[in-house]
Amino acid sequence: MTDGRVAVVTGAASGIGATCSRRLAGREWRVAGLDLNPSHTDLSMTVDVADRDAVAAAVDEIQAQLGTVDLLVTAAGYDERIPVGEISRQSWDRILGVLLGGTVNACAAVLPHMRRQGSGSIVAISSELGLAGSEDNVHYATAKGAVIGFVKALALECAADGIAVNSVAPGPTDTPLLEDGSPWRDPAYLATLPLRRLVHPDEIAATVEFLAEERHFFCGEVLSPNAGAVI
Ligand SMILES: NC(=O)c1ccc[n+]([C@@H]2O[C@H](COP(=O)([O-])OP(=O)(O)OC[C@H]3O[C@@H](n4cnc5c(N)ncnc54)[C@H](O)[C@@H]3O)[C@@H](O)[C@H]2O)c1
Repeated sequence: MTDGRVAVVTGAASGIGATCSRRLAGREWRVAGLDLNPSHTDLSMTVDVADRDAVAAAVDEIQAQLGTVDLLVTAAGYDERIPVGEISRQSWDRILGVLLGGTVNACAAVLPHMRRQGSGSIVAISSELGLAGSEDNVHYATAKGAVIGFVKALALECAADGIAVNSVAPGPTDTPLLEDGSPWRDPAYLATLPLRRLVHPDEIAATVEFLAEERHFFCGEVLSPNAGAVI
């Protein structure tokens, strides 16, 4: 029985974050969502995860209203397709600030609370593209690779405190992030995948839940449900 446990999910208003929030709520977690947009969660906070102070204030508020955070899922993010020579300084800084910085900010906000209670679980959503690279969104793949490095290093540092830090690296997943006309929706691309289909957000949420529930035997792990795109 998971009654009473508190989860913070960033990116909770859409796609993977929304699906994780629904799945956790169905398992009797109380879920607080951080997103640029309102989320259907027990406590919806409108926050830019790139803003460290705002994230810290939101987590303090969640603690005050729901209690100590047991689980953090970092799913806030976006992608943009730009050839490497055309990526502006602003685009580099923003995508690193949201994908990597947002993950760091959320972890920094929950860690003192988890340390005080001597337990907790963090699951950072990275990407298959952080494992295998990608063309036309090098800044995105760079940030996701950095998230994986961050997770592994943080896992080492937090293990002795009873805090599990792991990552889920989705392959192309059927969410609004993959807009109409996305190369990852192209039937010719999907035909190259061993499973011949996009990943379903429920499959990502199930993997997140698995890592959260079985945290005692994972440390710095990266699980990648990716339809066989990267084996
Ligand atoms: N869909 C895929 O194919 C795929 C594959 C690999 C990894 N991912 C990653 O999974 C995560 C979730 O993506 P998704 O597919 O659910 O996309 P999505 O667009 O459906 O949801 C992303 C959510 O993040 C929020 N968000 C974006 N920037 C934010 C910010 N600065 N502060 C707060 N919230 C912000 C958005 O408002 C949105 O609700 C992202 O990190 C994405 O990079 C997605």
